[in-house]
Amino acid sequence: MIIIKTEQEIEKMKKAGELLAKVHKEIAKMIKPGISTHEIDQFVENYLLDHGAIPEQKGYQGYPYATCASINDEICHGFPRKEPLKDGDIVTIDMVVNLDGWLADSAWTYPVGNISDEARKLLDVTKKALYIGIEKAVVGNRIGDISHAIQSYVESEGFSVVRDFVGHGIGRKMHEDPQVPHFGKPGRGPRLVEGMVITIEPMVNAGGYTCTIDDNNWTARTIDGKLSAQYEHTIAISKEGPLILTDQD
Ligand code: MF3
Ligand code: CO
Repeated sequence: MIIIKTEQEIEKMKKAGELLAKVHKEIAKMIKPGISTHEIDQFVENYLLDHGAIPEQKGYQGYPYATCASINDEICHGFPRKEPLKDGDIVTIDMVVNLDGWLADSAWTYPVGNISDEARKLLDVTKKALYIGIEKAVVGNRIGDISHAIQSYVESEGFSVVRDFVGHGIGRKMHEDPQVPHFGKPGRGPRLVEGMVITIEPMVNAGGYTCTIDDNNWTARTIDGKLSAQYEHTIAISKEGPLILTDQD
């Protein structure tokens, strides 16, 4: 069941999203060779608590941290770790902020120091794929229109779209209906109506899309060991077009 939000509820989610965007901007300043994802995770947890918010991921289905921190071939749900980031790494920081009971979700992939040309292209294509998907998040379209636009663009650039993890509705709960795949056929799936709030969060691999899950039962990584990137926003569907609730600009 898709839960439609009122304007007032979307306003509350926007407050959560604004705080989340601020956290990402702080992270962007912190990321450099030598810092660890454990330090970033602690920073995020403290920052959110200091601002009256809760890191929703911590304790969610037993997930142990405030953030997911996925490095290089890790696709998503990477555990923060004490080992420092190295020059040339890419790292995706994903988090869900709970402010006054309303949630926002956003992931961003950061370059660490100087990255390879291939890694740079992967980041650029993945971010563009997110915005191409967002353009399709308009009243009257269907979820499949978002999915298809993202998949066609990513594959035209020679990369692949992860199948095993998808975007989702969000509100008072992290995962609501509908699912938002980043691959599929246009004109299929639920129709977008005013008041729906969804995440769009393409995970894009430099090689094949197949994943394997680590022994921690959480972390997904590419089976071929190639790089993976992800950009995610929380989007409200409105008559005026897509509202990016986690916008950093
Ligand atoms: N933020 C993730 C998403 O985009 C969910 C993280 S799973 C958790 O859907 F367990 F870490 F919370
Ligand atoms: Co997320």
